Amino acid sequence: MFELISYEKFRDTKDVRFFDISVNESNYRDLVIHSGPAVSPPNDEEFKNWQFYIHHNQEDNLLAISGGRTFFLVNFGWDYPFYKVRLESCGYILRIPRGTFHRSVSDQNGSIVLNQAIRDKEGTVESEFKVTNSKDNKKLLDCITNLEPRFKIYSVK
Ligand SMILES: [Fe+2]
Repeated sequence: MFELISYEKFRDTKDVRFFDISVNESNYRDLVIHSGPAVSPPNDEEFKNWQFYIHHNQEDNLLAISGGRTFFLVNFGWDYPFYKVRLESCGYILRIPRGTFHRSVSDQNGSIVLNQAIRDKEGTVESEFKVTNSKDNKKLLDCITNLEPRFKIYSVK
C-alpha cells in the first residue's frame, strides 16, 4: 500500500519554513517541475488514453515543494486497487511502492515535486521510466474505466 510519511519541521511560521525532509535510504533524487497543468506521463497523443509509469526496481518518495499535484495510483495487490492522492506544498511525502502504476496531474499553476527515490541495483533510467499506455493493458484499462478512485487529500497547514 502507498504510505504518507511525515517529517521533522524545525520552523514553520508565516515567513520561514525549515524542514528536514531526508529519506535516508534514498540513493537518487529527481526534481520534476511542471510549469502549468502538466500530465506526467502525458496522455497518448492519438486517443488521449491515460499512460502510467511503473517501477519494478524503484520506490518513489514524492514531496510537493510548491504547488499541488494529484496522483493516480493503481496496484492490483491492494485491497482496493485505485486511488487518487492529492499532494499539497510541504505536506506529507507520498511513498509509492514498487509495482504500482502511477501518473500525476499538476494544478493550473504547476508544481515542483522532489522525488527521493530508492533504486535497486538492477534499476536503470531505461528500465524504470518505460511508459505503459492503458489501452495496451486490459486489466489496467478496465480498472480505471470501471472503478472510481478512492480520494485522499494530504496537506499540512
Ligand atoms: Fe515514479
